[in-house]
Amino acid sequence: MAETMADRPSKANGARVLADLNALRAIGAYKTGVHRPTFSEPHRRSLDWLVQKLPDAGLAAEIDGIGNVFGISAKAGPRLLAGSHLESQNFAGWLDGPLGVVYALEAARVINPDPTVKGAVDVASWCDEEGHFGHFLGSRSYVGEVTEQEIDAARDRTDQRPLREAIAAAGLAGRPRKTAERGRHIGYLEAHIEQGRTLEGSRLNIGVVTSIVGIWQYRLTFTGEQNHAGTTRMKDRKDAGLALAKACVAVDDRFPAHAGPRTVWTTGRIMLDPGAPSIIPGRAEMLFQVRDDNPEIVERLEALLGEIAAEVGNLSGCSVEVTRLRTGKPAIMDSGFQRAIEQAASIFAGGKSTHMPSGAGHDAQVLASIMPAGMLFVPSIGGISHHWSENTDDADIVTGAEVFVETCRRLLTN
Ligand code: GLV
Ligand code: MN
Ligand code: MN
Repeated sequence: MAETMADRPSKANGARVLADLNALRAIGAYKTGVHRPTFSEPHRRSLDWLVQKLPDAGLAAEIDGIGNVFGISAKAGPRLLAGSHLESQNFAGWLDGPLGVVYALEAARVINPDPTVKGAVDVASWCDEEGHFGHFLGSRSYVGEVTEQEIDAARDRTDQRPLREAIAAAGLAGRPRKTAERGRHIGYLEAHIEQGRTLEGSRLNIGVVTSIVGIWQYRLTFTGEQNHAGTTRMKDRKDAGLALAKACVAVDDRFPAHAGPRTVWTTGRIMLDPGAPSIIPGRAEMLFQVRDDNPEIVERLEALLGEIAAEVGNLSGCSVEVTRLRTGKPAIMDSGFQRAIEQAASIFAGGKSTHMPSGAGHDAQVLASIMPAGMLFVPSIGGISHHWSENTDDADIVTGAEVFVETCRRLLTN
């Protein structure tokens, strides 16, 4: 039977993908990973790197006022938006983000000049997915969720630099922020390293993402009584630090009975005030995060967190305040996108794919609020991520690129 144009797979150039990823790895290199926080000098250079590459794919490049980079095609026909992010967590891995941006660039380079493929791939690099200044700042700005007041108030979580100052230092002050042009895109596709062990453990090449977790974040503040650590008898203390520690232990004891199979919770920065061994802390604060793709489960856990806080507060003679800092937005990935990824994996990955939820947050969950969205994962060695040793086999990176380009072609052709 004669092969039709619609059946002809497009091929990524694996060597070009690896060369681009290694070029980005050299920008802000730290050990085998990168240190490229949002609006740092290396981050700005990585954005410039992308701006210079986009014309190779027939794309007009622009950086907007929040640091998003776009590559926009003038080709007629349907258009798919694809991308990820270029900043990193502090002293972290080289693939978390750049993999998805380089795959999107490669898809545009292969598909956009090909007259046999209808339509084109537009590329996006979303600013601050890693949340140095907020959360999903770039993609939320694109879908119209970020106000000027939020930008005025935001500060870098590491050095407290105001976001306005960082934007100005990056040369972006006063630029308009680009928002989604309704109807322009048939959807959004993002690739990412898995950042877990599912694929590696089952010797699979591709994860077809079904849903992305929502992330809920809280601040627990314990107020007791600051006093002398030598003269205050144990029975007379109102130790805010001890109340905090009891809350952490109680959460770990009592959450499992109310959690779902993939619920996770993590305590972040703990602060004791004053943090001196000769002084009983009168105030203690902790950041706490819960992730799930089911908001009902998190509602249950949030109620339980409030109960635990009240109980340990009573026991320790402290008052406790629980403040929700961030509300999760889980997202379901589009079934047509899932099918296209699976079909592409049957051609380029020998069918070695599986459907799986994402425990990490991604810009795709923000884009999913305004258009169909899909994600594919490639394996992470040892499941390590958010650490400089994060890595993926070159062969797996190349296979993922082939599956990604073919997925784009199928989505545009169908
Ligand atoms: C994103 O990097 C996350 O923390 O899930
Ligand atoms: Mn990421
Ligand atoms: Mn990350």
